[in-house]
Amino acid sequence: MSNFPVFDPASPQAEAIRDLFVQVLWISGGIFAIVAGLICIAIWKFRSNETLPTQDFGSHRKEIAWIVAPVIVVLWIAAISAKLVLTYNAVPQAHPPGQQDADLIVTGHQWWWQVDYAGTDIVSANEIHIPTGKRLRVKLSSADVIHSFWVARLARKMDAIPGRENFIWLQADKVGTYTGRCAEFCGTQHARMNFIVVAHEPEDYEKWLAGEKTVPPAPTDAKALAGRSTFLSLTCSQCHAIAGVSADRSIAPDLTHLASRRDLAAGVIPNTPENLRRWLKDPAAFKPGCKMPDFKLTEAQLDELVAYLETLK
Ligand code: CUA
Repeated sequence: MSNFPVFDPASPQAEAIRDLFVQVLWISGGIFAIVAGLICIAIWKFRSNETLPTQDFGSHRKEIAWIVAPVIVVLWIAAISAKLVLTYNAVPQAHPPGQQDADLIVTGHQWWWQVDYAGTDIVSANEIHIPTGKRLRVKLSSADVIHSFWVARLARKMDAIPGRENFIWLQADKVGTYTGRCAEFCGTQHARMNFIVVAHEPEDYEKWLAGEKTVPPAPTDAKALAGRSTFLSLTCSQCHAIAGVSADRSIAPDLTHLASRRDLAAGVIPNTPENLRRWLKDPAAFKPGCKMPDFKLTEAQLDELVAYLETLK
């Protein structure tokens, strides 16, 4: 059922959500069948004008029956939903001073996701790496408008609201790549605000983490060096951070390990040198309204920038 991620859970939480959904679907499906069936019977039985149904006013017994039955159904659905919410609610935890209250801090931006790995300097974008089998607390917030963080196969949906912190649990049982989406309309490019969660075996995760902590060495190639100067002389570096090169990490995606990411522009295009070049040449062609301006880069500048950015592994 890979086309329906909700039916293909990969964590205990997502499984519980799927089970609840199926249970409510059966209950409402049963009610629908009874109501639709009775309507069909009535239409069939009283199709001619000659037979009129018995008119029956003021039967307390029947009234009580059709009030009590729906109340029981609604209370039952409310109870099983509340039980699930309470079981999987990730409330902020008391934590020692200086220590983070979450393992991951995810911030929604128009139209990309910033990912901070708590307790480290690692900041990334649109890609969340996690070890399998570990329940991670994720703190969600937003830099601009309300977004909604949703990885259907792993966790519940949760809003990312400016000026507020929400928490959820994120866990994956199996190694794999799980698609995440923004699930709340947040502007013109809302549909192009995707991300992935990559779950590694714990030892592979440690290796990935060690790789992210290293600063990519300065390029040696002349073209890439020219690209780095372009990056610094134009205003790229005032929005994008690259470890060891430029610092502001809160405006636009951090590019320190750009070349090792799977996609560009929040899941819009696969990360290849050709696509990177097309993206830099005219961002609005892929994401109209995108905050990265078209710098009218020359062909030579494009080649140099791509050569440089491709060194950021
Ligand atoms: Cu962010 Cu929709």
